[in-house]
Amino acid sequence: MERQMLRSVLERLRGQDRLMECTVPVDPRFELGAVLSAFHNERPILFRNVKGSRVPVVGALYGNRSIILDLLGTSPEKRLFKLMGAMGSPSKPKLLDRGPVQENVVTSGIDLLEMLPVPTSNERDAAPYLCAGAFVVRDTETGRTQMAVRRIQVLGGNRLYILVSGASPHLLGELRRCAERGKVLECAVVLGYDAPFLLASQIGSGKYGLDKYEVDSTLRGEPLELVRCQSIDLEVPAWSEIVLEGRIEPGWAEPEGPFAELMGYYSTVAPAPVMEVTAVTHRNEPIFQHAFPCREEHLAYGMIKEAEIFAALSHTVNVQDVNLTLGGGCRLHAVVSIKKRAAGDGKSAILGVLGAYKDIKHVVVVDDDVDIYDMAEVEAAIASRFQASHDLVVVSGALGSTLEASHMERGVSDKLGLDATKPLGDKASLYEAAVIPGFEKVKSSIDRYFVGGGTRRWC
Ligand SMILES: Cc1cc2nc3c(=O)[nH]c(=O)nc-3n(C[C@H](O)[C@H](O)[C@H](O)COP(=O)(O)O)c2cc1C
Repeated sequence: MERQMLRSVLERLRGQDRLMECTVPVDPRFELGAVLSAFHNERPILFRNVKGSRVPVVGALYGNRSIILDLLGTSPEKRLFKLMGAMGSPSKPKLLDRGPVQENVVTSGIDLLEMLPVPTSNERDAAPYLCAGAFVVRDTETGRTQMAVRRIQVLGGNRLYILVSGASPHLLGELRRCAERGKVLECAVVLGYDAPFLLASQIGSGKYGLDKYEVDSTLRGEPLELVRCQSIDLEVPAWSEIVLEGRIEPGWAEPEGPFAELMGYYSTVAPAPVMEVTAVTHRNEPIFQHAFPCREEHLAYGMIKEAEIFAALSHTVNVQDVNLTLGGGCRLHAVVSIKKRAAGDGKSAILGVLGAYKDIKHVVVVDDDVDIYDMAEVEAAIASRFQASHDLVVVSGALGSTLEASHMERGVSDKLGLDATKPLGDKASLYEAAVIPGFEKVKSSIDRYFVGGGTRRWC
């Protein structure tokens, strides 16, 4: 039985009839990504017949919130506490003598584009990219394992360009120290992981200084099983599919990009560290993990930020839930529900969200009777509970996300908050919601009104 990582995910998705399989030949250049995008990168698809390769590709595994929650073994209501709990009490991973990911070890004649079906996603992308690879290093100062999903440009041969953004100060510091000391940085790229590993990878080292393998171990409820790499001094997940082991020579950087980023706009070309792959290890009949940029994967990033924002807000207001919406790239737009206790709670929540995470541009605060995952309900709250002269907060010229075109144009971002909560006190009766007696009962047994499956035909 598969214990951890990608194959355990595929087993579960198959059991739930949630994995689609594509058996017709698909070109990894544009066509594969087009198929994933036709399903909004929310439907896991296994491509068994990828042109030019015998290695199958799986994509869009983690583009759907309910799939991630199911794989984490949690619910929408409990998820924030599960994530915060794992960050608050990391536990030890387990080192095995051997693991399936090292069933095959290649150390010479490495040509990554020959070996792997690396997709090219958008028209002006500079090259094929590894979009789901988790980049692993050991922090030489603390000994902790850092790993994070990063975009990785594949040029052929054994070279990779790794993008490290300003949001990763620990890794940038490590690279700088290595350059100053003339020291090689050993690193690995892991493909074929599961949901706890992905979520753990999205925690910022700069903020918490956590060992992400330890966070993963608490999140999955058992130690993450690791093996030692073959050519470098690092550990990687024993049950993953493919691991690229390698090294970054001190100070070596080459121009990376362009690449279509978070909101679908192209990034600029800038120098990025170059990784030379020293070994490729993989399972028998490996499966290549892909994530169409930059959609499905950002959901996991947003889910960690939701937990951080929830924790920050809980000091000031009675926060109920936080949604970093898909339309805002899971980082630019927040919808927050609160149980209002005092008149200023809505505005305090706006300030708290904007202060907790600089990438948020627009935030809407609603009462806890609004479903923050239903944009029609959120819009209805704005339409009926919000007055611009009283309930709007605007801040101009603050720091924002560099992954957003209008920020890139100006170098700063304006911030906007809408307090769409109801007033407390006398006026509250104006907002009494109309109720259909027995609605929930009717809804839960709706099929009985349409003998012969009428509701299914409509769907
Ligand atoms: C799909 C995806 C792609 C990402 N690409 C990059 C990237 O190219 N470079 C980067 O620095 N961060 C990228 N990130 C964000 C990092 O994974 C995230 O900020 C992580 O928390 C950084 O960890 P660190 O603080 O340990 O460096 C990406 C995240 C996701 C989900």
